[in-house]
Amino acid sequence: MKDFLAISDYATEELQDLLDLAVKLKKEYFDGGNPPLAKGKAMAMIFQKPSLRTRVSFDMVMRHLGGDALYLSPAEIGLGKRESVSDVARVLSGYVHIIMARVFAHEHVLELGKWASVPVINGLSDFSHPCQAMADALTIQEKFGSLKGLNVTYVGDGNNVAASLMHICARLGANFTIANPKGYDMPTEAITLGRQLAAESGSSITLTNDPHEAVRGAQAIYTDTWTSMGQEEETEKRLQVFPPYQVNANLVAEAEKDVIVLHCLPAHRGEELTDAVADGPHSLIFPQAHNRLHAQKAIVARLLGLA
Ligand code: CP
Ligand code: NVA
Repeated sequence: MKDFLAISDYATEELQDLLDLAVKLKKEYFDGGNPPLAKGKAMAMIFQKPSLRTRVSFDMVMRHLGGDALYLSPAEIGLGKRESVSDVARVLSGYVHIIMARVFAHEHVLELGKWASVPVINGLSDFSHPCQAMADALTIQEKFGSLKGLNVTYVGDGNNVAASLMHICARLGANFTIANPKGYDMPTEAITLGRQLAAESGSSITLTNDPHEAVRGAQAIYTDTWTSMGQEEETEKRLQVFPPYQVNANLVAEAEKDVIVLHCLPAHRGEELTDAVADGPHSLIFPQAHNRLHAQKAIVARLLGLA
């Protein structure tokens, strides 16, 4: 596989293998540092949207491995505007060894993958966030040993993060439930794919509008912002619709006793997640954010053929 664009592009065994590599690299990092496997290698990081985690974690991945990362801000490049996506892909392929891109249109990251001769990583598109899903799976695996047979419930907007989480749950055998308000469903294409993957692994996909029903029996509750980047003009409307989907202490109390609470961050405290839950005993939001580093190191190392 040249690129890392979608969870569904990878077989269950390949995803598990990447997670195993992430566990190994994480241990090695805390035991004294990773060997400079990527010495002399450079990553171009294209950002059409803001970022804390994706930007810093990929930069640190390259530093830990002895390589370099170049941050290309939303003001630069003008992907698809100043220059065609295919030209950007072909130019960068002569300068760097790997490209990571955070884009609006999912087609742009696919097109980068098609035209670049070097590996391309999807660092979030309007449709998906597969690197986040890998860190999520690593975090769940660290807590429960494996995703197989677990009940993972996402409460909130049927967005990019929800879609990738559903796909990794389906691939790794966790039962996935989403509770979202009417009119804020995941795209049909994401659901169809999720159902296919779940059928292959023997897990289930449940769609509901009832957050209380959704968290019953859940070992993991996940939420994300009600308004994703690019939807800012809908903020006011969404603030009216989404409050019944807040992950607060009452909702968490309806799940399993040892339930973990996850959020890809940035969190809008007091909206989709209360402070009490974010900073409470069930929350793993910071270890989850830190796992971006280790999960992505595994992805980069594999794509560059270094591990
Ligand atoms: N979760 C995540 O991707 O965060 P950033 O937008 O800060 O990169
Ligand atoms: N759904 C959010 C995730 C941010 C990491 C967004 O797209 O803005």
